[in-house]
Amino acid sequence: MIEMVHVSKAYNESPRVLLDITLKVDKGKFVYLTGPSGSGKTTFLKLLYAAERPTEGEIQVNGFRLSRLKPREIPHLRRSLGVVFQDLKLLPRWTVSENVAFALEVLGVPRREILKKTPEVLRLVGIERKGKCFPSQLSAGEQQRVAIARAIVNNPLLLLADEPTGNIGLGATEGILRLFDEINLRGTTLVLATHNYGLPAMLPKERIVLEGGRIVESSLPNPATLIGESGIRYVAPPRT
Ligand SMILES: Nc1ncnc2c1ncn2[C@@H]1O[C@H](COP(=O)(O)OP(=O)(O)O)[C@@H](O)[C@H]1O
Ligand SMILES: [Mg+2]
Repeated sequence: MIEMVHVSKAYNESPRVLLDITLKVDKGKFVYLTGPSGSGKTTFLKLLYAAERPTEGEIQVNGFRLSRLKPREIPHLRRSLGVVFQDLKLLPRWTVSENVAFALEVLGVPRREILKKTPEVLRLVGIERKGKCFPSQLSAGEQQRVAIARAIVNNPLLLLADEPTGNIGLGATEGILRLFDEINLRGTTLVLATHNYGLPAMLPKERIVLEGGRIVESSLPNPATLIGESGIRYVAPPRT
C-alpha cells in the first residue's frame, strides 16, 4: 500500500525536513503519524500524494512508483487516494452537497451516480441534514466531516488526513476518530497526521513518531529486511 525506502526531503531553505524514512504500511492499517509541529508530518503526506517529490529514496503508493511517475500519471494516483487537508479547502460559496459532488464531477462521474453517492456519503459521515448548508453555517467538527466526505466519496484505497482534529473540541474529536475508525473498517487504509499525542490513547492504532524529520518510534513491523539496522524504537502494535 505504502512503501518508503531511504526517503529524504530537503528544501533550499530547510535542508533536513525528512531524513532517511523507511517504512511499510500494509493495506487496511490505521496509522497515526505523530510528532511535534515542524517534525515533517505535512511534508510526509505531501510526498504520498505527490504534491512534493522526495530528494532521495523510493516511494510506492497504491502500486504507483512515485519516482517514476510522469506528470500525466499523477491524476491516476490521486484518484486512488483521498486527502483531508489541514485547512479543509471547502468552497465557501458552494453548499455542502456541491462541495462533495464536485469531487466526483472532476472525475467525470455520471450525474445520476453523483446524485446517488453524495447523500450516501453525507449520511456515512453523519451530516445528511446539512447538504443544503454552506460551510460557514456549520460547526468546525461538521466542516471537518464535509472535508472527510469529499475525500472518501470516490472510495479511495488510501485516506490521508492532516491534523483533522486540530480545530475542534474534545467531544467532536472523539466523534471524528470514531468516523475514521468506521471508514477504516470499511477497508480504507488511513494515515492520520497529528501533533496531538493524546489521539492514539483515545483510539489505539498503529503509530509512527517523527522527530526532526526522523522516525524515532514505530509500531509497524520492522522493515529491517528493507534496510537493516535503523535506530528506530519498535514498540508493540495496538491491541484490537
Ligand atoms: N515548502 C517549504 N519550503 C521550505 N521549508 C518547508 C516547506 N514546507 C515545510 N518546510 C519546513 O519543513 C519542516 C517540517 O514542516 P512540516 O512538514 O509542515 O511539519 P509538521 O507538519 O510536522 O508541522 C519545517 O521546518 C518547515 O518550515
Ligand atoms: Mg503539519
